[in-house]
Amino acid sequence: MAYKIALYPGDGIGPEVVAEAEKVIKKVKLDCTTTKFDWNSSLYAKIGHCAPEDFIEQLRGFDAILLGALGNKDKAPEHVAVEPLLMMRKNFDQYVNIRPSVLLPGVGTPLKDKKEFDIDLVCIRENTEGEYTTLGGRHYVGTQQECAMQINYFTRIGVERIIRYAFETAKKRVKKHVTSITKSNVLKYSMVMWDEILEEVAADYPDIKYTKMYVDAAAMNLVRCPETFDVIVASNLFGDILTDISAIVTGGIGFAGSANLNPTREMPSMFEPVHGSAPDIAGQQKANPIAAIMSCAMMIEFLGEKEIAKKIEAAVIEHLKDDKVKTPDRGGNNKTSEVGDDIVARL
Ligand code: NAD
Ligand code: IPM
Ligand code: MN
Repeated sequence: MAYKIALYPGDGIGPEVVAEAEKVIKKVKLDCTTTKFDWNSSLYAKIGHCAPEDFIEQLRGFDAILLGALGNKDKAPEHVAVEPLLMMRKNFDQYVNIRPSVLLPGVGTPLKDKKEFDIDLVCIRENTEGEYTTLGGRHYVGTQQECAMQINYFTRIGVERIIRYAFETAKKRVKKHVTSITKSNVLKYSMVMWDEILEEVAADYPDIKYTKMYVDAAAMNLVRCPETFDVIVASNLFGDILTDISAIVTGGIGFAGSANLNPTREMPSMFEPVHGSAPDIAGQQKANPIAAIMSCAMMIEFLGEKEIAKKIEAAVIEHLKDDKVKTPDRGGNNKTSEVGDDIVARL
């Protein structure tokens, strides 16, 4: 049966990079139907949101969603523009955010003495709760007594399932090592509970090594010795921040793909580059489309077409090794579409 894929290019460089992923989908002849949704920050002036009110219902019947990026501060407040992204993660219970960072051949790193594949880690980021809640409020706005509260919540179910997912991921990898990142020396309710649950889950996986690390040390170690990480498990906000670091030490944000998974498959999963809408280069064909293409490969793998996904990754690696067709983030002069065409030609 043909897979039903929703394409949601969004704002800024989103449409430019999704166009390249679309070429890849066509080239590999994936048995699918694609439906494009033209939702972005321009809708804000008309409807006060950046996606139609029933957009979750419109997307519910799809097998997967491929998102470009959201955000255009000239057209909509930033926190309104990214709401649809957060709503998809929560409403479709996409509780696992998988963010691999691999130093691929032909890709430069700002770190010295690191060779291809020296860095090969994956962050399993909690994606539905933690610091990313809409609980809280502002009081006495504009007065001297003004107060803002932003409330975090961590549930036993939410913490347990993400830590378990990380251990299951480690089981399939060579190093079999989970690093759990918290700030439990300070956040004495939420992250002390996280640590307790970690111990409980770890007891079910005697063959998996695990390490506890504070987020400040993790930020340092991702620069100092990224090769020592295998599987990272982190809360929503910590995972967000740390994966920009792991992206930059493996070549840059233009390479980082990600998957927002609902492992039950009862609702659609969503695939998107880690990067944002990059307003500084939008509309100029300067964006690196590899993050979007890698996200597309992750989508195809999740749909069950593992061989096709491998072919796409192999074509990207061949393209990188050749090192000729490059967008400006890699020191080249080529256009987004030329990078996409070069990868497609290798498929
Ligand atoms: P950003 O990722 O958009 O840009 C940061 C820097 O990285 C910029 O210099 C940009 O030019 C560069 N960059 C990003 N993607 C690139 C690519 N594919 N190729 C080459 N260079 C690339 O982050 P930001 O500037 O903090 O945010 C801009 C907007 O995007 C904001 O509205 C923010 O809220 C939004 N945002 C959205 C997402 C998402 O949709 N998933 C993620 C992050 C940020
Ligand atoms: C990301 C982004 C989002 C996040 C924003 C745009 C809501 O930074 O996917 O990394 O914080 O999760
Ligand atoms: Mn981010």
